[in-house]
Amino acid sequence: MKYSIILSSLTALMMSAGAAPSNRPKCGKVDTVDIDKLISEMTLEQKIAQRLLPDMRNWNYGGCSNKAANVEVMNDELAASISKYSFGGMVLFAENVVNAENATRLIDAMQKANAVNSKIPLFVGVDQEGGIVTRLGNGTMLPGNMAVGATGDPNNAYLSGAITGSELKAIGANVNFAPDADVNINYQNPVIGVRSFGSHADLVAKNAVQYQTGVKSAGCISCGKHFPGHGDTATDSHFGLPLVNKTLEQIQGVELVPFKALIANDVDMIMTAHIQYPALDDTTIPNIVDGSPLIVPATLSKKIMTDFLRGTLGFKGVSITDAMNMEAIISYVGNVDATARAIRAGVDVIIMPALVRCVANFTLYDDVINKVKKDIADKLYSEDELDTSIKRILTLKKKYNLFAPVTTTIEKRIEIANATLSDPKHKEIERNMARDAITLLKNDPTYGIPFKTDETSKVAVFMPDATQIASAVRTMQSLGVRANFTTFPFTNTLFNDTIKAMIDASTHVVIGSLVTKNTPAIDGGDIFIDTGKIGSWAYSFPAGVSDYAKTTKKPIAVISLRNPYDSANFERTTGAVLCAYGFKGYTNGVFGQPNLPAAISTVFGHSKPKGRLPVDIPSVFDNSTILYPFGFGLSL
Ligand SMILES: *[C@@H]1O[C@H](CO)[C@@H](O)[C@H](O)[C@H]1NC(C)=O
Ligand SMILES: *[C@@H]1O[C@H](CO)[C@@H](O)[C@H](O)[C@H]1NC(C)=O
Ligand SMILES: *[C@@H]1O[C@H](CO)[C@@H](O)[C@H](O)[C@H]1NC(C)=O
Ligand SMILES: *[C@@H]1O[C@H](CO)[C@@H](O)[C@H](O)[C@H]1NC(C)=O
Ligand SMILES: *[C@@H]1O[C@H](CO)[C@@H](O)[C@H](O)[C@H]1NC(C)=O
Ligand SMILES: *[C@@H]1O[C@H](CO)[C@@H](O)[C@H](O)[C@H]1NC(C)=O
Ligand SMILES: *[C@@H]1O[C@H](CO)[C@@H](O)[C@H](O)[C@H]1NC(C)=O
Ligand SMILES: *[C@@H]1O[C@H](CO)[C@@H](O)[C@H](O)[C@H]1NC(C)=O
Repeated sequence: MKYSIILSSLTALMMSAGAAPSNRPKCGKVDTVDIDKLISEMTLEQKIAQRLLPDMRNWNYGGCSNKAANVEVMNDELAASISKYSFGGMVLFAENVVNAENATRLIDAMQKANAVNSKIPLFVGVDQEGGIVTRLGNGTMLPGNMAVGATGDPNNAYLSGAITGSELKAIGANVNFAPDADVNINYQNPVIGVRSFGSHADLVAKNAVQYQTGVKSAGCISCGKHFPGHGDTATDSHFGLPLVNKTLEQIQGVELVPFKALIANDVDMIMTAHIQYPALDDTTIPNIVDGSPLIVPATLSKKIMTDFLRGTLGFKGVSITDAMNMEAIISYVGNVDATARAIRAGVDVIIMPALVRCVANFTLYDDVINKVKKDIADKLYSEDELDTSIKRILTLKKKYNLFAPVTTTIEKRIEIANATLSDPKHKEIERNMARDAITLLKNDPTYGIPFKTDETSKVAVFMPDATQIASAVRTMQSLGVRANFTTFPFTNTLFNDTIKAMIDASTHVVIGSLVTKNTPAIDGGDIFIDTGKIGSWAYSFPAGVSDYAKTTKKPIAVISLRNPYDSANFERTTGAVLCAYGFKGYTNGVFGQPNLPAAISTVFGHSKPKGRLPVDIPSVFDNSTILYPFGFGLSL
């Protein structure tokens, strides 16, 4: 009920802002773009470049030996390079979209530089998933997918998509590399975790579809990722090449469910995973390390990216690679060969086929373009296939009106972008969603929550780092919590007598726990505590605090800040254990994710826990025993 009111005002807001910032057309103009004619006018080099999407995170202006600076504003060297190549688009990072004004100006300058030699506007893509993966400085961070899963309301996924989409459109970006449609069934997954809606395929499918509908409603392109699925890996493809060795039947029952749902809902873009899926393609290519056979990663597989995704699953949109500078690709295949292979596999757009940090580095793009030209000359790839792919790209650009001339002044667009990014409605929705996600797994009537405090109370606050301390304290102050606070950021420190003294001097204890990989042998475990050996800070410190609070009979709230699986470490805690699903704190004057504030609000009784676990949490001692099942959550 409440949401539908917020939703309608959000929609109204987007409609009123809709005409201005983005490349929205005056009706009629856009339809005159003749895609076939445009393609016929492109040179071969321009066609290949249309399939490439570089980043411009940092730049060594005036030569690579100079100091690199974040690209917050356009510079002449970059502008000239963009003009020269006619790329398909750009991917922007946090370094580029620092605030509404800079981001709007930068994107505008990029489109202008591109327009010098190209009639085809750029895709401007951002990883604005919401939650722990957000780039837009001063944008709304949102609590993230797993928190949305915990609220049990897919309308929250719709709102997340609508808000991120509208903020990106406001700065002139047009692609959101989201939603993450991975099913996080592996509790050891080091890279997806809270980026996933949960561990049940249907829950992920339902929410991913709502998210993508929300992004689309804002006039922004949405991109389901990481196909065929990055949820069941214990390796991060940023650092290694994961293998998912499951049968087709198993994959059909889990990983593919959300992607099928997205395709049925007409998703415009799908991003690949740099993951081996032998059940889908067990072809091998030479490993550049030693020439040994390497099962082809999905990103480079024609069987997966063309035969299966387009043929079997019926995807008609634009496919795009995950970043090609990730270790899974560069260490095993090499970036030039990998880009050519991805193109031959039928992937339409290649993200970051090379890292360019100065003008000289653009020769890397020449290498990529020359390699594809050679493939065409060698008949490994045909110009027809190239054109088919270009046509899909241009059709999508046309569908989202990117060809329409921008008629609003830059000043007006900045004003709208400022207003959109700081829209109080976005922040209100964000707060409500984070609050409704807080999941209480364990509580004790005497030593648990809600904490009752007064002027004589002293709360000891332990968080992994200072930004989370700042977020917690600021929240307690804004809620008017009556108590004094002592705080301690504990990353890389040991539980010792100083900490004991802090607890002795307090009446209540709040501690954040942050573990991405729930392996007792790696992150700590009883052996470390009991023998006094050093475990990872992430486990041993919170466990020490929790045990000491029990000994001294202090109420304690343990907040799981990221993947909820670390909650299983606190079985013997006397107090409360709750999950927030997001760890980014308050930094540099920017209020971070809403998750920690929502958890603090719950601890002090200003809101009630309503979340239900969107994953199964196994015991830390025996992963075949589920300690807290999917759907679990206590009420107060
Ligand atoms: C934004 O752009 C201005 C110049 O237009 C620049 O001085 C400033 O450093 C940029 N960054 C931020 C964070 O404002
Ligand atoms: C935007 O973010 C910057 C830090 O990147 C911060 O200094 C500034 O106060 C923020 N502005 C607003 C309006 O939130
Ligand atoms: C996949 O699993 C099967 C069955 O356990 C095994 O025979 C095969 O070697 C595995 N493949 C890889 C690449 O590990
Ligand atoms: C970029 O160019 C500089 C200077 O020529 C070189 O040192 C650096 O290795 C290049 N970067 C890449 C990724 O090739
Ligand atoms: C946008 O916001 C920034 C920082 O809050 C401010 O300095 C600037 O004047 C605003 N620009 C417009 C056009 O409102
Ligand atoms: C809380 O701090 C104030 C000063 O900031 C002090 O006057 C007061 O005595 C403290 N209360 C407790 C319970 O320590
Ligand atoms: C406990 O650890 C903290 C942080 O490393 C340190 O500052 C403090 O001196 C230590 N206390 C004792 C009693 O060793
Ligand atoms: C569960 O534990 C077993 C035994 O320690 C281990 O072999 C297996 O890899 C674990 N499962 C996952 C998903 O990590």
